[in-house]
This record gives sequence, C-alpha cells and structure tokens, in this order.
Amino acid sequence: MVVFRKGDHVWLDTQPNSEFNVPIGAVVKESDSGRILLEDDEGKEHWITARNMHMVHLMHPSSVQGVEDMIRLGDLHEAGMVHNLLIRHQEHKIYTYTGSILVAVNPYQLLPLYTVDQIRLYCNKRIGELPPHVFAIADNCYFNMKRNKRDQCCVISGESGAGKTESTKLILQFLAAVSGQHSWIEQQVLEANPILEAFGNAKTIRNDNSSRFGKYIDIHFNQSGVIEGARIEQFLLEKSRVCRQAPEERNYHIFYCMLMGMNTEQKKMLNLGTASEYTYLTMGNCTSCDSRNDAKDYAHIRSAMKILMFSDSEHWDISKLLAAILHLGNVEFQAAVYDNLDCSDVIDSPHFSIATKLLEVDSSELQNSLTNLSIIVRGESVSRPLNVAQAANGKDAFVKGIYGRIFLWIVNKINSAIFNPSSQKPKDRHQSIGLLDIFGFENFSNNSFEQLCINIANEHLQQFFVHHVFKLEQEEYLAEHITWNNIDFTDNHQALEVIALKPMNIISLIDEESRFPKGTDATMLVKINSLHGKSNVYIPPKSVHDTKFGINHFAGVVFYESKDFLEKNRDTLSANVMQVVHSSKNKYLREIFQGLDTTKRLSTLGGQFKQSLEKLMKILEQCQPYFIRCIKPNDYKKPLLFDRELCIKQLRYSGMMETIQIRKAGYPIRYSFEEFFERYRFLLPWSQRQKNDARQSCISISQAVLGKDESWQVGRTKIFLKDYHDTVLELQLQNVLTDKVLLIQKVMRGLKDRSQFLKQRRSAVAIQSAWRGYCCRKEFRMSLAQQHRAARVIQAHARGMLARHTFQRMKREVMLTDHLPTQEREEAEARQGRNVLANKPTNHDVISDQEMVDKIFGFLPSMIGGQEGQAPLGFEDLETKPNKLEEVDLDMVPMSVELEEEAHGLEEYTFPKFAATYFQGSSTHTHIRRQLRHPLLYHDDKDNVLASLAVWVIILRFMGDLPEPAMFAKSATTKSSSVMTQIYDTLGRKNQVQLKNDSPNMVRQADYREGRKDNKISKGISSLKLKRSSKLTGKVTEQLRTGEEAFQEDISISQRPMSNLEKVHFIIGNAILRPNESSLLFLWSCCCPSNLTDDS
Ligand SMILES: Nc1ncnc2c1ncn2[C@@H]1O[C@H](COP(=O)(O)OP(=O)(O)O)[C@@H](O)[C@H]1O
Ligand SMILES: [Mg+2]
Repeated sequence: MVVFRKGDHVWLDTQPNSEFNVPIGAVVKESDSGRILLEDDEGKEHWITARNMHMVHLMHPSSVQGVEDMIRLGDLHEAGMVHNLLIRHQEHKIYTYTGSILVAVNPYQLLPLYTVDQIRLYCNKRIGELPPHVFAIADNCYFNMKRNKRDQCCVISGESGAGKTESTKLILQFLAAVSGQHSWIEQQVLEANPILEAFGNAKTIRNDNSSRFGKYIDIHFNQSGVIEGARIEQFLLEKSRVCRQAPEERNYHIFYCMLMGMNTEQKKMLNLGTASEYTYLTMGNCTSCDSRNDAKDYAHIRSAMKILMFSDSEHWDISKLLAAILHLGNVEFQAAVYDNLDCSDVIDSPHFSIATKLLEVDSSELQNSLTNLSIIVRGESVSRPLNVAQAANGKDAFVKGIYGRIFLWIVNKINSAIFNPSSQKPKDRHQSIGLLDIFGFENFSNNSFEQLCINIANEHLQQFFVHHVFKLEQEEYLAEHITWNNIDFTDNHQALEVIALKPMNIISLIDEESRFPKGTDATMLVKINSLHGKSNVYIPPKSVHDTKFGINHFAGVVFYESKDFLEKNRDTLSANVMQVVHSSKNKYLREIFQGLDTTKRLSTLGGQFKQSLEKLMKILEQCQPYFIRCIKPNDYKKPLLFDRELCIKQLRYSGMMETIQIRKAGYPIRYSFEEFFERYRFLLPWSQRQKNDARQSCISISQAVLGKDESWQVGRTKIFLKDYHDTVLELQLQNVLTDKVLLIQKVMRGLKDRSQFLKQRRSAVAIQSAWRGYCCRKEFRMSLAQQHRAARVIQAHARGMLARHTFQRMKREVMLTDHLPTQEREEAEARQGRNVLANKPTNHDVISDQEMVDKIFGFLPSMIGGQEGQAPLGFEDLETKPNKLEEVDLDMVPMSVELEEEAHGLEEYTFPKFAATYFQGSSTHTHIRRQLRHPLLYHDDKDNVLASLAVWVIILRFMGDLPEPAMFAKSATTKSSSVMTQIYDTLGRKNQVQLKNDSPNMVRQADYREGRKDNKISKGISSLKLKRSSKLTGKVTEQLRTGEEAFQEDISISQRPMSNLEKVHFIIGNAILRPNESSLLFLWSCCCPSNLTDDS
C-alpha cells in the first residue's frame, strides 16, 4: 500500500459514477494514524480513511507543475488535462497546447498578452518554441502558407462565450500586423467585424457579445504574403432572436445602438423612441448591457460602414427597415369571426401606419397579408384567414424574413468591398488563411431545430478533426510501413451518415416533409422513426405523444424538441406577404428580397445550411488545418473561477481526449525525403550529403540531430517526426544558417574593411613620406646654414692670420728702413731686392692675399658637404663623386661647436705652458727665424721628424726669413702641377709600395699616436676634405704618414723655389697629412712674441 506523506500531490476519485466527474487533484495536508487529510483543487478538505485509500492515487510530477503541451503529461487522462488547465488558469496561463492544437481558456479579464511586443515576439516562431499562444497558431498559419504555398485554415470552436470570436479577432490582428502593409483593404477586412457583430451578435446570459451566426473568413494573400482581400461566409443566423429573447437576453445590438446613437432628427423621421417602447426589444427584460456602450458602438458601426463603402442612402434604407421592424413588433391583432372562422384584425395604431410608411407599402394590402394566408394550390392562389396567434406568427415570420435578408445583404455588401475577384485568376492565384468561428456543440434542456443544425455542423467538424488527426495519419502510416499501435478512437462517421449523408438521412427526411404541404412535425417524426428507429444513432420518442427525439452525437446524446421543426425549416413567407413586398415602393426592400425568393426559396433552411456546410468542408479539406479549442471556465463570466465539470464537458465535446491519444501515439510532423533533405541539408556536413540518395541523407541528418534512439521513423517516401523533433530540427537549422550567414558577412566585411585599410595605409604612407621629406629638407637647410657659418668662421680666422702676417712683415720692413744704419739698410735692401727677385711673382702668382685666401679655402663648400662647386686649385684630385657622400656624417660634423671647444681649450692651456711642457730641446713658445734642428714635438718616426723640419723651412721661406733656393724647377710637369698634387702623387706612389708592407695595426698605431686635442683646426679642415675623398685616398693618406719616399719627395719639393701659393699648399697639405707637428709649426710661426699674448 502506498503511504502518502504531507505535501504529496494525489488524484482523488470521489464520485466515479457521475457523468462529468473525473478524479480531482489534491494535496496531502496531514497524515495521521492511517488517515490522511486532503485539500482538493477546489479548496475542499477531505479526510480519507484507510478503507477509502483506494480512491487516492499518486500524481505524476508532470501534473504537479503543469505542462505547456499536454501530450507530455504523465497522467494522460481527462483528470490530468483538466487539472493541467486549472493550475495554468490560476497562473493566468490561458493557453495550452495539445500537440499543435491550442486549448484557450477564457480569462474573462484583459491580460497583457496581446501587445505589439508580443506580436513581434511570436513572429516567425515554431509552435513549442515559446509559451503557447494564439499568436503562435496565427504565425504558423501565415508562415506555413508562405513556406508550403498551401492554403491554411484555423477551426476555432467552443461553446458560446468561450472566446471564439475574440480569438478570431486576435488572429486577424496578428495577420494584419505580420503581413506588413497597413493597406486600405486590410483596414476594410478588420472593419467588417464591427458591422457583422452589430447585426449578428447579441447579449445572452452567457456572453455579452454572443455571435448568433457562424462565420468563415477567408483572408487572401498575394504572393508576397500581403493581404489583398477576404471573403466572408455566414452560417445560420438565429433569426428568432429578432422577435423573441430569453430572460436577461437582448435583441441584436444594432437596434439598441441605433436608438442610443442616432440623432433626434433622424429618430424623429423614423418615429423612434427609446428601447423600452418596443416589444421586440423588451422581451428579455433587458435593454442595456453593462459591458457595452451602445451610443459609442453606433458611431463605430457608422464609420465602419463608411470604410466598407456603405453609402448614406444605403445606411438610411437599412435604418428605415430596422425601424419598420420595431414598429411592426408593436402591432397587435384582435380576434374576429367571419363566416364562423377564427379571424384576426390589426389593431389600429400609429406603429402600423408608420411601418407601412417606412416599408412604403399599401397599408390595407399589408393588413390583409398579415391576417390571411395565401397558398398556391394547383396553380391557383387560395387564401384563408388566420387567427390572432397565426397572424402574430405570420408577422414575426415577415419580420424575421426582413432581418435575415438585411443580414445577408450586408454580408454581400461587405464581400463586394473586400473581395477581389481578380485574385481568383490562376495566374494571380492567391493563398488564403480561413478562420472558422462557429458555434460549438450544444446540448440544452430544450433543443430546437437550430441546435440540430449547429450540432450537425459540429459533427462535420469533428469528423474533419478526427480525419485530420487520426484517420489520415493511420492510413498514411500503414501505406508508409510505419510501426503504429492501433488505438481505439471515436469515429463519428456513422452518426454523420445517419444524420446527413446517406440517402434518406434525417435532414433529408425533414426537408422532404417540409416541402410536403400537409406535412407536420408529427408526420416527420413518424417517417424518421420508421427509417432510423433501429439505428443506434437515432433515439425515437419514448411514446406516440412524445415530441422529443434523440441523436447520439460524437459528444453525447442530445434530445430535440420536434415542435416547429418544419416551419423553421421551411423558412418561407406566405405568397401574399411576398406580393406586398414586391409591390412596395421601397427599392431597398424589394432589392433584399430579389433573387432569393420564388423558385430558389423553395429550398429549405436545413437544405441551404447543409449545402453551405458541405461547401465549407470541401474548402477545409483543401487546407492545412489548425484547431483552437476555446473553453469557457465558468458560466458567470468571472475571472479566475474554474468550473471543473463545465470544463470536462467542453473538453469531451471538443474531442480532446482522442486528440491526445492519437497525437501522442502518432507522428504529427512528416516530410517527403526530398522536402526534408531540401530543408535540413545544411545540418549535414557537405561531405556527408548524398544528393542521389535523399533517403539516406535524411536518415543521416536525423541521426546527427535527433539521435539514433529517438522515436522518429522512416517510411517508404517520408520521414515521420514528433512535434518536438520538428522544433529541435528547426532550432538547429536556424543556428546553422545563422552561422553561415555570419561567415558570409564576416568575409564580406573583411574584404570591404581590408580594401578600406589598404587605401588608408597608402594614404598614410603618402602623407608620412611627404612629411618626412619636408622635415628632412628643413633640417638639411638648417644644418647647411650652420656649416656656412662655420666656413665663414674658418675663413675669418685664416684671413685674419694672413693679414696679421702681412702686417708684421710690413712693420718689420718699415722698422728696418727707419732704424738700421745705412750699410745694414743697404744690405737689407739688397737682401730684400734678392728676395723680391726670388719672390718675383710668376705669372700665376700675381694675386693678392685676398685672392690667395680665396684660392686656399675656395675648396670649402659653398653649399653643405662641398657637393656644389669646384674644389680649389690643387685639390681637384680629391674631388669625389658626390653620391658617395654620406649625408649623415656631414650632419655630424661639429663645425662651430668644435671651434668653440678649441677656443675653450686655448683658454685653459696657454701656448707658453704647452711649449714648456711638450717642446723639445731649447725650443720655447717664442718664435725664431732660424732653421730648427729638431721638430718642436717628439716623434719616434724619422719621416715625421724630417717632414716637420721641411715644413718649418717652407714656413720660414714663406715668411721671408729664409731666402728662396736659387734653383729652378726640375721639370715642367712638376712645376706646373700643384704642390698638393705632387704631395699626393708621391703619396700615391708610396702607397703602392706601402700597401704591401703595412699592416692595419700600424695604421691604428699611427692613429693612436696622434694627439686628439692638439689638432682640432686641422682635423676640422682635413676631415672635411677626407670625407670628400675616396676610401683609397684615406688609406693612402694614412699610410703616407709613415712613408719614407714621401718625405724624400717632400724634400725635393721644398728644395726648389716655390711661389707663396705653393708654399701655403705645402704647409697646409702637410698640416692635413701630418697634423700635429705641422700645425704646431704653423701655429708657432704665428706666435711671434711681439704680436701674441699668452692667451692667444
Ligand atoms: N482572450 C481573451 N481575453 C480576455 N477576455 C476574453 C478573451 N476571450 C474572450 N474573452 C471574453 O469573453 C467574452 C466572450 O468571448 P467571445 O469570443 O465573444 O465568445 P464566443 O465567440 O465563443 O461566443 C468576450 O466578450 C470577452 O469579454
Ligand atoms: Mg462569438
């Protein structure tokens, strides 16, 4: 025995014998010595003793929380379903799926479920992807229509007040929103509703806005899915409501709206007062409805009529007939007897005359037609008087006839505005979504002919439903060799055959009897009894006097009251009434009766209904159907009140149980292999796709996505899936497609961005190069200016030096002339004369000091680096190709800076101090005019010693302190070439010899021996020149510093007479090549104590 603990959820089976009672959900509140206290779903407490414990069963966990799709319920029975609906209803979750069928429980309150955001949310989603919603069904209708190019339909069924019309309107709104364009035609389709509701809806005890007709709205879409029209089909308007209403119920809304909304002038023209003045509006003792505003609604109806192209005169015509109906309603009859026959007379009243005026008929003719009945017998019209009751019935029939025809005319008028016949052409073949809002199965205590028609319609729909959900499926599974467990299901085919399909069915018998002039309800019953008495569908009346017969419908047995069946079915007006209508001056009245009467009208109401129903079923069978089952949770229009028994009844009537079983056992989703492969091929890697074997590919896809053990099946031509397989596949497909789209986007964006980047980089490089060029040029110009300044400084120093020398010499000469004794002066003059003779300038020596300086320093670049202009005389051979020059080195030359350093160095180390420190022998800083025996500085190199002494000799000769040797040039070549060239030539020869012997070490040693600080000026000049020189020249120069031959050549040069320029070249040449000593000598020569201070 199961032991229940506190908190356990259980099923409690209290009254197993009651028809609509099923186990109720409960929770264990207490468990006490073998007893348990349960609180059921309705809040009632039950003590269950051990003896009754068999009434309690443990609840499946799926039922405790509730599920969105009832197929997944562990407790798959009515109790489980209704409990599931109950707990969801309490959480305001009014929608629940059963596979793809939607169960909608009326919340009787406005929930925030229908916002624009919700429409967006549900747009293009699979069923099951989001919580159940009527929008999900609408969305699937729409996108399946677009995807499969197949018409869709949605059958919305349920009891009156269950929410069918609201659901239809919500679907319409959703379709209008997602189909994109808010066009005029779309607006017209939407505005058709208020008009139809005004004329076809009324307040009943169950529903303040109960549709008293069935409707099928077929919405047409063009190829792009935009609404391009619609067509409305109406079924079986409840005309009796115009004349009679049950307590607490009203007539059709339009009467109350008209009386409340029309202006006084119009009302005056129609002689209308208030609703309470009219018999037809007060039968239910209810003229107002709390949830409605009739005046406001009237304005809405008027505007909707304008949108749907109702002209003002048409509206006025309708108003006139409606007013006539109200006035006719107030017309009464009084009994009279003529020729011993019960007759009737119309009681004279303003209402009758107003009615005749509005109908524009002759009043006596109308009176006559209402109080007499004309029938045509063998081509002749036979008239007989009617008693009061018959006359009143005749009047009601006339009124119902008028109203019914107004309604039909309005539906046709709406269709003429919203229906586009061109879309019927095959080339513009539209797709459509049909919405069927039709009354559900009804079983009242007193069921009339209308209930029979409604229930027959529901039998048809049930068959369609079962066919769709079960029968077709089973057939297909068999054909496809799918393993399928047969289950019992209720097939109402037999009931339908008896009621409406096979020959001599119940409807056809009623029809036949209706056409038979002598036929009565009793004769009709006799016929039905005799033909169907033994069938288990028809239940004959219990006795001969009993007028009730029963029919075993799919949802249970319903007993119908046969009284007035024939009259209702005939739905005809007497010939004299029709004559009055045809003689009326009211064009509109004639129009609405035109074409519908005489021969055509011979067809009965039942016959017409059957016809339109069969037509509807044909349309539905062409479509892919969806089903919405609306459930009314209570009869009191109260939110959060859930009447279990009422709901179980509706669930049973809606055939939901069968659905659950069929759906769960079957495969609601199926694709042909080609369709499946075409749609889901992206879920398989390219390499594994086998285009030639779609079946194998489908299996591979399903195995990869759904898994091998899943309950999908492969048939002969199709693959069969459960609802949730479809959801999984769709989600996967969406993911894969999203990835692919992202990849394409990535590549395209990469391509675009790369080309953009390359363009930008090219631009950046162009800008950079332009900018760098600009900067370099600017920097170059600055350093050029700097070098020019340096060159000018050097020039100034050299010129200064020469000027000072010239000055010294001139001074000395003056002193000699002025102070020496005559003999000495003569000697000096003679010496001077010799000197002059010796120094007599050759042709090329006749130059001024200025020119000489210019010549000497002419090689200095006029532009930076000396790349421009000619080298001065004697330095041409050092001229090298400009392009070998390394600009960066030139920039590094610290011209002015080094001069400043030099000046600074001189300040620190005075010349006498330097001389005292470094000079050899008896040499002091004081200048002497004799030949030196040693060089001023110490040299371990003999060449340098000799070279230094030679330079000093040339300096003395240049200064005039030594006479020129009286010897002429050896050769013209030597003479003509410059001293520098000769030195270099010699050095070049020497280099040829030395290159073989000298090691780099020696060169480095020589470099090392060179003082660094003591040759700044010469270094400045020589480095300038050296940098211009070739590498070879540099090497040669290095090697020559130690070369013996060079010296000998130097000697030979120095021993011939030289021009001043040659001397300067010689001195400076040596200064460049042997900087330390030569420069020092040169400096020493400048340091004549009489001219220089210690600091110079
Ligand atoms: N989804 C809903 N949300 C809120 N109220 C609803 C909803 N569906 C129906 N109702 C309420 O129930 C009433 C009856 O609905 P209706 O669609 O007219 O029923 P039916 O057409 O099935 O007779 C509506 O007037 C409305 O007040
Ligand atoms: Mg309705």
